[in-house]
Amino acid sequence: MCGIFAYLNFGVSRERRYILQVLFNGLRRLEYRGYDSAGISIDDCLLSCASTSSSSSSSPSPLVFRQEGNIESLVKSVYEDVAATELNLEESFTVHAGIAHTRWATHGEPAPRNSHPQTSGAGNEFLVVHNGVITNYEVLKETLVRHGFTFESETDTEVIPKFAKFVFDKANEAEGDQPVTFSQVVLEVMKYLEGAYALIFKSKHYPNELIACKRGSPLLLGVKELNEDASNGSTLHDSKFLSMNGQPKELFLSSDANAIVEHTKKVLVVEDGEVLHIKEGGVSILKFDNAKGRHGAARSTPSSVQRALSILEMEVEQINKGNYEHYMQKEIHEQPESLTTTMRGRLIRGGSCKAKSVLLGGLKDHLKTIRRSRRIVFIGCGTSYNAALAARPILEELSGIPVSMEVASDLLDRQGPIYREDTAVFVSQSGETADTLNALEYASENGALCVGITNTVGSAIARHTHCGVHINAGAEIGVASTKAYTSQIVVMAMLALAIGGDTISNQARREAIIDGLYDLPNKVREVLKLDAEMKELANLLIAEQSLLVFGRGYNYATALEGALKVKEVALMHSEGILAGEMKHGPLALVDENLPIVVIATRDACFSKQQSVIQQLHARKGRLIVMCSKGDAASVCPGNSCRVIEVPIVEDCLQPVINVVPLQLLAYHLTVLRGYNVDQPRNLAKSVTTL
Ligand code: UD1
Ligand code: M6R
Repeated sequence: MCGIFAYLNFGVSRERRYILQVLFNGLRRLEYRGYDSAGISIDDCLLSCASTSSSSSSSPSPLVFRQEGNIESLVKSVYEDVAATELNLEESFTVHAGIAHTRWATHGEPAPRNSHPQTSGAGNEFLVVHNGVITNYEVLKETLVRHGFTFESETDTEVIPKFAKFVFDKANEAEGDQPVTFSQVVLEVMKYLEGAYALIFKSKHYPNELIACKRGSPLLLGVKELNEDASNGSTLHDSKFLSMNGQPKELFLSSDANAIVEHTKKVLVVEDGEVLHIKEGGVSILKFDNAKGRHGAARSTPSSVQRALSILEMEVEQINKGNYEHYMQKEIHEQPESLTTTMRGRLIRGGSCKAKSVLLGGLKDHLKTIRRSRRIVFIGCGTSYNAALAARPILEELSGIPVSMEVASDLLDRQGPIYREDTAVFVSQSGETADTLNALEYASENGALCVGITNTVGSAIARHTHCGVHINAGAEIGVASTKAYTSQIVVMAMLALAIGGDTISNQARREAIIDGLYDLPNKVREVLKLDAEMKELANLLIAEQSLLVFGRGYNYATALEGALKVKEVALMHSEGILAGEMKHGPLALVDENLPIVVIATRDACFSKQQSVIQQLHARKGRLIVMCSKGDAASVCPGNSCRVIEVPIVEDCLQPVINVVPLQLLAYHLTVLRGYNVDQPRNLAKSVTTL
């Protein structure tokens, strides 16, 4: 996936230097979405910068800067180019539209020609930044080539600005017509685009205007009013505000809220099929009525719509590193707080004669249907899948409903059966993972009740599911998911409590889990004290090629998740293994060199794990055993292995505790091995392409 950003100042003077800074900062906030190349476009201004007219003839061509590498490489190259061309950084613009992009390569290697903005050709008549994938780009490209266009990139995106120029030229050739407007050009282009996209257009022919549109990929508009009188007169939910032309304002378009919240909290979450035309300080919104599925092109006639602004429930501090070196480190250490927020208002203490319970506002009207389901199917990818796996046993125990697990891509590959009587639960931190979204479309078409568990309010999964629960873990910026994982498990444990009947026979168990949830943040605080110990362990493992993690029961998921963390950030081969499968293959790998983490905390599987440890010992395995506090001697007689002692909690919540030392281990291993913790090689925060 990629990040797109735009900044438009209207009626307020801004120097070019300031505009560049806003664009670069926007990209820095979005860098976690993709970081192999980046680009921006701003105006040259030799002629009439202050003009707000749409007359194109005298407009200078927009400048485009593109660079391979991270945002700082782009920043450096822009300032070098600016110095070489003597472009004046102090020059002021009372209106200016700049666009920016940070890329995660899908079509073509990271290189300036494949970076965005992509252009219609010489003169940069139309420029586009894009997040998503155009699935029918080859057909469009063939058509454009037949009409004389030449392509310089391998991207799917390049067809868009070229197609816009094609439409523009055709419209202008037609005699007797009114001059075609920017939105008419884009609406025509959109009719032919298939796939998922969020796009921002800038054009030499429409100076100081921007068009943004989306289908499938996320897009927000942030609005900052600069005139007190205007803001007093317009209430937040006054949709007319958006079309208030002439009032000084700053507008921001972004793939997510991270790049907007430092400027304003007033946002419009753009919906699929909508086209925003920003012109002369106003925003008009057009919408294709029959917004097709995520992949179909828009074929209907668009009509004008009014939308209200909403307030971002997020603070700037959430997206800063604070006193931490890296986002992943910050996010690991803030888990006591993120878990508290996840549970806030959702645990009910009970009274003298009332049992303790949970209240999930987003599900209360659907619990009856869920309880009647023939089965519950958890669907997700990566860490989100692992979180669901960790919660599966408690959901089965408390609900008595069979729970099956599906990796989203595999469900689709198999076209696995999903029925009307199923409840399909989609777990996704970002709420925009392409595989999970496609599985959602598939399950929805098959008539299942679709429940979302996501961290991102307004995300595609939140919007396309019938109901759901926001995990409220706060912005997670490190590519490796940490705090979202623990919050997801907690939400799914609460889901199990909400679905499960409150019978006399299970009351003690339910109360123990609820008490355990109340105390969980404290216990996580306690386990975080292992930080130095995990750093020491990381030092010992720094040069290893491989690491195995054995778990079972509640902690099979911990083994998978711990191994995934080590793999994705420390770039060390690491495998999570179901301990029950040990003798069916993995045992062959065991020798005195290969480090093996065995999770053997207290639960129903404890004695089986003790036996696993003995068998690994017998083969001279190099063991690191994670056990409950006080169990070191019993799991590791004669100090024969290294031990990680963790606090004990209710068994179904133990995965929340046990994953923390493994997160810390992955973090320290990465730093010690000298790799980029927050932006691991080849990965992006959410995978919006198939
Ligand atoms: C909601 C409010 C919260 C407020 C609380 C108090 C939102 C986002 N949440 O929280 O600010 O403090 O009420 O009453 O406004 N949903 C989906 N799919 C998903 C996730 C959620 O459809 O993947 C739906 C839910 O069914 C629900 C709505 O989104 O209708 C909000 O969900 P959630 O934030 O979990 O609800 P509450 O915890 O009640
Ligand atoms: O946003 P999602 O939870 O849907 O993302 C799913 C996976 O792509 C994600 O969990 C991935 O495995 C993480 N990088 C793991 O840290």
